[in-house]
Amino acid sequence: MANLKLRDARKSYGALEVIKGINLDVDDREFVVFVGPSGCGKSTLLRMIAGLEKITDGDLMIDGTRANDIDPSQRGLAMVFQSYALYPHMTVAENMGFALRIAGVSLSERDHKVKEAAQVLELSHLLDRRPKDLSGGQRQRVAIGRAIVRNPKIFLFDEPLSNLDAALRVNMRLELMRLHERLAATMIYVTHDQIEAMTMADKIVVLNNGRIEQVGSPLELYNRPANIFVAGFLGSPKMNFLPATVKKTSSDGVSVALASGNTITVPVSAGTAKVGSKLTLGIRPEHIRIGQDGQFAGQAILAERLGGLTIFHVDIASDQSLVIQTEGTDATPLHTPLSLQIDPTICHLFDVDGKSLAGLN
Ligand SMILES: Nc1ncnc2c1ncn2[C@@H]1O[C@H](COP(=O)(O)OP(=O)(O)O)[C@@H](O)[C@H]1O
Ligand SMILES: [Mg+2]
Repeated sequence: MANLKLRDARKSYGALEVIKGINLDVDDREFVVFVGPSGCGKSTLLRMIAGLEKITDGDLMIDGTRANDIDPSQRGLAMVFQSYALYPHMTVAENMGFALRIAGVSLSERDHKVKEAAQVLELSHLLDRRPKDLSGGQRQRVAIGRAIVRNPKIFLFDEPLSNLDAALRVNMRLELMRLHERLAATMIYVTHDQIEAMTMADKIVVLNNGRIEQVGSPLELYNRPANIFVAGFLGSPKMNFLPATVKKTSSDGVSVALASGNTITVPVSAGTAKVGSKLTLGIRPEHIRIGQDGQFAGQAILAERLGGLTIFHVDIASDQSLVIQTEGTDATPLHTPLSLQIDPTICHLFDVDGKSLAGLN
C-alpha cells in the first residue's frame, strides 16, 4: 500500500509563494503526472513530497501518516532526476547498488536486488560497464534501476526523459509504462510535455502558476477541460479559440454570434452569461471538416503534411485563422475558397474568466 495526500500544501521562498495551496490524492498503484509550463512549480511540488524542500504550510500524508517532518531517507520514496548523475568511476552494478551499500545492506542481498532490477530493465548484460560506455537511454535506465533496488513505496520522476532524443523518448515512455505495470507501484511523474502526460497518466494534474487547474484522467481533461488553460494546454495541434458574443440562451444551450457573422448553438448551460456577454468558443482541430455549407468561409494558406495526417492553417477573416486536422491524403488545395463545418455539440464555450460553461444535463 502506498498512497499520498496533500492538504493545502504551500511553499514560499521569502515573500514569494510558488506553491499556492495544493489539495491532491494519489492512490495506491496510480501513475500520476504533474504537467504544466516551465516555472509553474512541478519540480518544487515533487521535491516537497520527496523532502528535498521544506513544506511552508499544509500537510503531506504518506499512508495516513503526516510526513512533513519525516527525514527524506525515511519517507520510503525514490526520486529519478532529469540529469542521471551516475558515478563515472563505478560500474552499472555499483551505481545501482550504491544506496544499498550506504544503507549497510549485505553484499549478497545487494547483488540479488541489483540483478533483479537489471533484469526488469534489460541491463543484465551491461552490469560491468561504466556509464561512459552506455547510451543515453541505457544511462537513464541505470538511474531508474537505482530507484528500483530501494523498493520504494512511491517512485518520483522529474522530467526523466528530457535529455533523450525524440525516438528514444518514445521508447522509454513505453518502458516506463511497462515498468509501472510490472512493479505495480505508485508513481508520480513530472513533465512539461503534454503528450507524455496524455499517454502515460492514470491521472493528470495540470499545474499553472503554483495552483492546480484540473485533475482527471487524460480523456476527461481532453473532452471536458474545466477552463481555457487546460483546453489550450492539452492537445496538439492546440484547440482553436474564437471570440463569440451571446445572442440567445435557452434550454437548448447558448447561441453565440461569431466574427464570421454565423450563429451557432452550443449545448451548454449559460451560467452567468447573458445576451451580449463576450465568450470564447473552443474547437479542436480534428473537429472541423472541410465541406459545403459550413459556418466559416476561408482559404488554406499553409499545409503541414505529416503523412498520416494533414494540418491546414486556414484564414477565415483578416485577423483570424483556424487550425484544422484532416487525413494524410487530403488533397485540398491552398489559396482556394473553402467552406468549413463545425459540429456545435463538440464545441466548448469559456466565460471571461476562462471557465468552461458546464454541459446541459
Ligand atoms: N530556491 C528557490 N528560490 C526562489 N525561487 C525558486 C527556487 N526554486 C524555484 N523557485 C521558483 O519557483 C517557481 C517554480 O519552479 P519549479 O518548481 O522549478 O518549476 P517547474 O519545475 O514547473 O519548471 C519558479 O518561479 C522558480 O523560479
Ligand atoms: Mg522542473
